[in-house]
Amino acid sequence: MRAAVYTRSGPPADVLSVQEIAEPHAGPGQVRIAVRAAGVNPIDWKIVSGLTGRSPAAPTVPGVDAAGVVDEVGEGVTGVQVGSAVFGQATGGSAAEYAVLSSWAPKPADTPFEVAAGLGVPGETAVRVLDILDLQPGQTVVVDGASGGVGVATVQVALARGLTVVGTAGAANQDFVRSLGAVPTRHGAGLADRVRALAPGGVHGGVDTAGKGSVRDLIELTGDPARVVTIADFGAGDLGVHVTSGGGGQPARLAQIAGLLADGRLRMPVAGSYPLDRIGDAYAESAGGHVHGKLVLLP
Ligand SMILES: NC(=O)c1ccc[n+]([C@@H]2O[C@H](COP(=O)([O-])OP(=O)(O)OC[C@H]3O[C@@H](n4cnc5c(N)ncnc54)[C@H](OP(=O)(O)O)[C@@H]3O)[C@@H](O)[C@H]2O)c1
Repeated sequence: MRAAVYTRSGPPADVLSVQEIAEPHAGPGQVRIAVRAAGVNPIDWKIVSGLTGRSPAAPTVPGVDAAGVVDEVGEGVTGVQVGSAVFGQATGGSAAEYAVLSSWAPKPADTPFEVAAGLGVPGETAVRVLDILDLQPGQTVVVDGASGGVGVATVQVALARGLTVVGTAGAANQDFVRSLGAVPTRHGAGLADRVRALAPGGVHGGVDTAGKGSVRDLIELTGDPARVVTIADFGAGDLGVHVTSGGGGQPARLAQIAGLLADGRLRMPVAGSYPLDRIGDAYAESAGGHVHGKLVLLP
């Protein structure tokens, strides 16, 4: 199959190339899909770049998220068959013609593959962080980084749970965040004051999806570090907030995302789609840090 491959860590555009490699196969508890689109997440280029401290021991296919059509069903798998359209998280890479998924959900018929492809990691993460906060309908949550992949999903899952959402974004994305149903405000210095003015009834939870230093403001707003979750500020655990990462193997969370997609309560803009040969450009755009929605690769 054609796949993006790297054999050493480094700048993605330098170390990634598209090659013919052996196809992977579904093991027990897994399915293989013919990939129709693969989502790009910041963790993908961080790993390829060596920023996570991992070096490839062998030629490696990057990427986690993908959507496609099942063409192999592993031992012990039920509820899905060859021909089912699914989306989820790959083990062994997703930037390829075929990917083996370890966690998946059915793709709603009306959801394009390109949209579903971007929802594995952001969707699972959104459900995970909101489950940690366990807020009640009518309460208010602040989502820092509301215009990015995880932020867009978190805003909409929170709204579906009956929460009021204040979402931060850059100047160019204020209207976009409002269009999702959140009250928009700018990210950065002065966040706590801006949010207090927008949420006179108080703030009951805070989600830092950006890792850009908002955790202290979120603690100030909620009055309790236990009411704050970060997915990207790994030093913030010392402040008493929840630091969460790596939620693979959670198909129940993806099933919630599939349900919201099917009900029309979740949308995810495709900010750009790149042919597999241009994976270096896709990773460079993601690394720029201001993607509005999701980038996808088309194998
Ligand atoms: N721990 C986990 O389980 C987990 C899971 C998924 C992702 N992550 C991590 O979470 C981070 C976000 O992922 P993503 O996929 O949502 O990234 P993304 O799609 O690239 O979005 C990043 C967002 O950050 C916003 N942003 C930029 N500067 C900011 C600032 N100073 N303050 C607040 N927000 C700012 C941008 O908004 P504007 O463009 O509007 O400025 C952009 O929408 C990444 O570091 C990723 O590796 C962790």
